[in-house]
Amino acid sequence: MRLSVIGCGYLGAVHSAAMASIGHDVIGIDVDERKIASLSNGHAPFFEPGLQAILSEGISSGNLRFTTDMAAASGAAVHFIGVGTPQQRGGNAADLSFVNAAIDALLPHLSPGDIVAGKSTVPVGTAQGLAARVASTGATLVWNPEFLREGWAVQDTILPDRLVAGVPSGDEGRRAADILRAVYHPSVASGTPFIVTDYATAELVKVAANAFLATKISFINAMAEIAEVTGADVTQLADAIGHDARIGRRFLGAGIGFGGGCLPKDIRAFSARAEELGRGESVAFLREVDAINLRRRDRAVELVVDALDGQVLDKKIAVLGAAFKPHSDDIRDSPALDVAVRLRGLGADVVVTDPAAIDNAAHAHPQLSFARDLDDALTDADAVIVVTEWDAYRRDLDPARSASLVANAIVVDGRNCLDAAAWRAAGWTYFGMGRP
Ligand code: UGA
Repeated sequence: MRLSVIGCGYLGAVHSAAMASIGHDVIGIDVDERKIASLSNGHAPFFEPGLQAILSEGISSGNLRFTTDMAAASGAAVHFIGVGTPQQRGGNAADLSFVNAAIDALLPHLSPGDIVAGKSTVPVGTAQGLAARVASTGATLVWNPEFLREGWAVQDTILPDRLVAGVPSGDEGRRAADILRAVYHPSVASGTPFIVTDYATAELVKVAANAFLATKISFINAMAEIAEVTGADVTQLADAIGHDARIGRRFLGAGIGFGGGCLPKDIRAFSARAEELGRGESVAFLREVDAINLRRRDRAVELVVDALDGQVLDKKIAVLGAAFKPHSDDIRDSPALDVAVRLRGLGADVVVTDPAAIDNAAHAHPQLSFARDLDDALTDADAVIVVTEWDAYRRDLDPARSASLVANAIVVDGRNCLDAAAWRAAGWTYFGMGRP
């Protein structure tokens, strides 16, 4: 099937390449000429495991092309909208200007019978507002939210755990759902649940899922705060409650909390939308979720300062991690970098290292120092803080060898990802988050 994908950021670039990899003929369109040039040359413009391979394959097979020319969308049966919906400057609501601009630019190139499939995360009610404009061309709007996780984006796109299609009522909606089923044929054939809803439900599924995940993380981080004043160990607590299948252990990782381009801005946009709808109180708890999350960054900084007896000025602090999570070079609202910036603000000599995100981090925070080599970051450090749980730190870092490099064997485990007993046995003073 011929597909167009409007917006070639994390979502759109992966979607384009993944759709080409399952046999579709895909044109990816973006206004950013540098991004398009990179993708057209078969180079992934960001770090995402598996993307480079399917991108190169698609480009060389001719199934996958990229352009800045919206007219190239003409002739595609389905047009995916994957542009960003960032947090508005000076407010909590989502900025829909990229979605509106994409739809405006696409309209002249639509033909009767085309499907426009919105994938961007939007406030509930947005699709209903766009549907008439799309319908004026004889095309049909569907809302098809995306649940991919960065770091697993290729796998999540090709074989998601569910597919959701918000469609208009009647035959038009049934036809649109059938076309989307055909687009996603390999995963539908393998049994992926395909859930057909109205627009509002599809939009809400997305924000509800992210709100739930954020709440789960802040719940365990709230327990970490209680653990800190009672001497309990939040990681054991998470293991124990996680055995209850109704609760589950995943996303009960206490630490410096969530960041990235989705969870933080999505819970804020959800609150803002609920207030517009006169139901602000229904999701008032999301303000607490946000507040708990941000407090954990303060707590990590406090642990480092306390470990150095309040003397951080000019102390070398090795910050292990910059990305908002491992397997990604994304630094949007990264708790890791926020902690680094705060420590720098206190006068510490902060040296940040990361296996993938140094270029992005250095661009955004030129005031920080960076070391590509982990040993350089550790050498003569007065304290070490682990803020992104890359395997290189969590699994591969040898506490005994590391102890021989640093000036002071003090480690703050901002992700509760190190083997505390092994680090202590190697002579380190170990501090976890919500652990004795
Ligand atoms: C999130 C959702 O998980 C995806 O399903 C969704 O499609 C995506 O947002 C989106 O809206 O596009 P992502 O932002 O890639 O995906 O990252 P997550 O894996 O959800 O992690 C988010 C943050 O939570 C990270 O900073 C991570 O370190 C943190 N986290 C995660 C914890 O602090 N503890 C945990 O137990 C799990």
